[in-house]
Amino acid sequence: MSVAVVYGSTTGYTEDLALKISKELDDLVEVVREVQYTSADKMLDYETLIIGVPTWHHGQLQSDWADRYEELEDYDFSGVQVAFFGSGDAERYPEHFQDAIGILWRKFESLGAELIGKWPTEGYAFEDSQALLDDGKFFVGLAFSKFDQPDVVDERIKRWTEQLRDEID
Ligand SMILES: Cc1cc2nc3c(=O)[nH]c(=O)nc-3n(C[C@H](O)[C@H](O)[C@H](O)COP(=O)(O)O)c2cc1C
Repeated sequence: MSVAVVYGSTTGYTEDLALKISKELDDLVEVVREVQYTSADKMLDYETLIIGVPTWHHGQLQSDWADRYEELEDYDFSGVQVAFFGSGDAERYPEHFQDAIGILWRKFESLGAELIGKWPTEGYAFEDSQALLDDGKFFVGLAFSKFDQPDVVDERIKRWTEQLRDEID
């Protein structure tokens, strides 16, 4: 089994989350890399990708992931497990909360990847999100709301990384 954490981060928050998540899984994670330095081809060196992306500009991918998005199209991710974590802001952007993890999952899904690490929406206050699955009961991955839920970050990371340990093949 080989696991990589690949993230994009414009102002550093998702980078902090990536490092915390990697630390919890340090016996499993081989590399932690920014997506701007990680080609789609390179991602395929790993059996499991833990992908971090913040949502920017009312429902858009963070810019480094946006730059990588088209290139993914040329690759087959069958047999690759993908987990997503996203940073967002449910208070200021309630209609686009965490859209980016949803946009990226749909891309990876179309390329054959298997989703792990989905996360319940209970306990979040927002209006709409492209990250919803299963009638709105789950996000595609772990969702952080930077300003209104700072106190639950560490606890959520602990629970989610335990869940990933069970789900990673
Ligand atoms: C201009 C701007 C637009 C944003 N748009 C959204 C959005 O549409 N949805 C959302 O959930 N969060 C949104 N956010 C919140 C960011 O996702 C959040 O600040 C995140 O932690 C940034 O991550 P980074 O520091 O890794 O770049 C926005 C923030 C800014 C400054």
